[in-house]
Amino acid sequence: MNQADLSPVTAPVDLVEQEFENTFVQELPGDPVTANYPRAVRNACYTRVDPTPVPAPRPRTSLRERAVPNQPSPTSWSLPIVPFQVGLPALDLFPHAAWAKSVARQLRAETPEQLAYSDPAGLRALRVAIAEHLRASRAVRCVADQILIVPGSQAALRIAAATLLEPNDRVAVEEPGYFGAHRALRAAGAQLVPVPVDAEGLHVATLQRRGANIRAVYVTPSHQYPLGMTMSASRRFALLDWAARNDAWILEDDYDSEFRYVSRPVGALQGMDARDRVIYTGTFSKALFPAVRVGYVVVPPTLWTRFMQSRFAFDLFMPTLYQGALAEFLEEGHFARHLRRMRSAYLERRDALLRGLARHCGDLLSVSNSDAGLHVTVMLRDGIDDQDVAARLGRRGVATLALSSSYVGPTRRPGLLLGFGCAEPRRLLEATRVLGDVLTETVR
Ligand SMILES: Cc1ncc(COP(=O)(O)O)c(C=O)c1O
Repeated sequence: MNQADLSPVTAPVDLVEQEFENTFVQELPGDPVTANYPRAVRNACYTRVDPTPVPAPRPRTSLRERAVPNQPSPTSWSLPIVPFQVGLPALDLFPHAAWAKSVARQLRAETPEQLAYSDPAGLRALRVAIAEHLRASRAVRCVADQILIVPGSQAALRIAAATLLEPNDRVAVEEPGYFGAHRALRAAGAQLVPVPVDAEGLHVATLQRRGANIRAVYVTPSHQYPLGMTMSASRRFALLDWAARNDAWILEDDYDSEFRYVSRPVGALQGMDARDRVIYTGTFSKALFPAVRVGYVVVPPTLWTRFMQSRFAFDLFMPTLYQGALAEFLEEGHFARHLRRMRSAYLERRDALLRGLARHCGDLLSVSNSDAGLHVTVMLRDGIDDQDVAARLGRRGVATLALSSSYVGPTRRPGLLLGFGCAEPRRLLEATRVLGDVLTETVR
């Protein structure tokens, strides 16, 4: 069909929306008159045509874009607050009044200078407060001049990759591992090399066998995502040694290390690194709330200028309002108080989940490590389709992630990630009953 076949018509918008539902209309690309109209109005400017859909040729996009998996899809990413949702903290217990005061104070005190372009590294006061927190509670060796404020963990990985990696460089990842990291690294052009984990974390001997040309490894040593174990001291030393020998980088993601229920928190890998191989990343998404979109990177001093260049090229700098509020939140002790309260709330929620699993799911699953973090992973019997179980749970108001979506390679164990952070104990117990019902239907 050519453009001459289309003759402009006019019609009221509400009529148009009804009439043009399910109708295919050829759009005029770049039409200067209609380009900014809402879609329904734009459609209404042209007469109806043959509704046979003609598959549009796939627009030419980069190899990197095509390497990024489309599951879970970006549009599914605004997470409803329902039991077992993975990645959400206790938003019902967030100290909103104290936070609102900090934000309002920042807003009122803003000067014209603070409305201008700001430091790409982030607000000094926030970097000082984060450095202090990381030294005291995570044994990270750092000063404020090593800290870059970024909009979350994936951005941290993109900036690290832009600084340290060539397109097509091989990057080792834990198998299973964090799909957000897989996505960010693939989008940066990396070739992912899956390396298995066991009870001690990443299997460093396998990493060594996978070849000398691996340029970096992404790890979650404090709380392996998704299986939950802590990397042992001997593995940590072996990994640091491997990185130094191979001139490779370690991308350490310390995403939810604040919450540990059985023993004293284990320090960060970065604190054991005497040879500046570790790029340490953290986030406020779990300790506070995901919509804050504040994360940080601790950069070895020798790489600081290079990281600053990449960070500046990435998105100039972070909005300053929340940075200022967050600095005050940390300085005034609200953050430490919040973490203390959350540790006991999460312990109660985790225990409710474990009780419910024992009561309602019995021998239908086995629980992997539950010592830390905001979710528990359970293993299902071989042969069970965990994506199908997750979909059926979703239809009954319970949101889980299938363990199989955490793998890069073809061998995938079935299981489910059950978030316990965002729901009260009573709702978690109820959700375990639903899970038990769904699993019983599945194995019947
Ligand atoms: C392993 C891991 N790292 C980091 C994050 C947080 O990412 P962000 O800082 O982008 O919110 C998550 C969220 O679920 C995660 O599971």
